[in-house]
Amino acid sequence: MAVYDNEKSPARGRVPAHVGIIMDGNGRWAKSRFMPRSYGHLKGMERMIGLLEHAFDVGVRVVTVYALSTENLSRPKDEVDALFGLFRKYFGEYARKIIERESRLCILGDMSALPADIRGMAEKVEAESARFTGRRVNIALNYGARDEIVRAVNLAVSRGERVTKESFASLLYTGGQPDPDLIIRTGKERRLSNFLLYQAAYSELYFSDKMFPAFSDRDFDAALKDYAARDRRFGKV
Ligand code: IPE
Ligand code: IPE
Ligand code: MG
Repeated sequence: MAVYDNEKSPARGRVPAHVGIIMDGNGRWAKSRFMPRSYGHLKGMERMIGLLEHAFDVGVRVVTVYALSTENLSRPKDEVDALFGLFRKYFGEYARKIIERESRLCILGDMSALPADIRGMAEKVEAESARFTGRRVNIALNYGARDEIVRAVNLAVSRGERVTKESFASLLYTGGQPDPDLIIRTGKERRLSNFLLYQAAYSELYFSDKMFPAFSDRDFDAALKDYAARDRRFGKV
């Protein structure tokens, strides 16, 4: 992975290299407009595309988007189907934009539980973008941190290995990637909901009351500004 260069960004040097986004509130946003939840997911997806562009423009290098948790698969079938429809659209159309911006796309999560065509599309984009070393978009899809940790433990056990903090981290879906500097959650809740539990050990957390489809570029800038003013001590004085 290329060395981070935040020189050109407005908040020079204080821009988080890696931002995690828990995009929550799509359903409530739609409900408040008397629209179906699936409309909220569509608008959330569109907002996410715009936000990724903006995040790269201001100097963020890695964005990890929580798109579907392992628990979300237990939602009513029509909602899960609507989400699958959006992922098809995403990998079919929008993922092109990511490649045009010379960024790498990675999927974090258990893809085996997803429909084969979505898996195939995602793997294709992953392979096509694997040559880009600068910017990166991680999409957490059927992702759960507890799943991820248990999977890593089982991998180590099957290899008969004792792990270190470093070797264990390399067995996670995020293996080889930097930990998130900042995690933003929209949608008013103050919790991580099984997102990056191991990697978030020293991440700064930022909670927004805005529902994700309404979370603007300016709202993102406000999160970055808040982050820039924080004193990250990592347990030191
Ligand atoms: C987040 O929005 C997107 C997914 C979980 C897929 P929600 O669907 O959780 O929206 P709310 O929280 O019900 O408003
Ligand atoms: C977290 O949101 C998962 C995603 C944003 C994909 P949820 O809406 O599933 O989380 P809870 O149920 O409020 O904890
Ligand atoms: Mg929610």
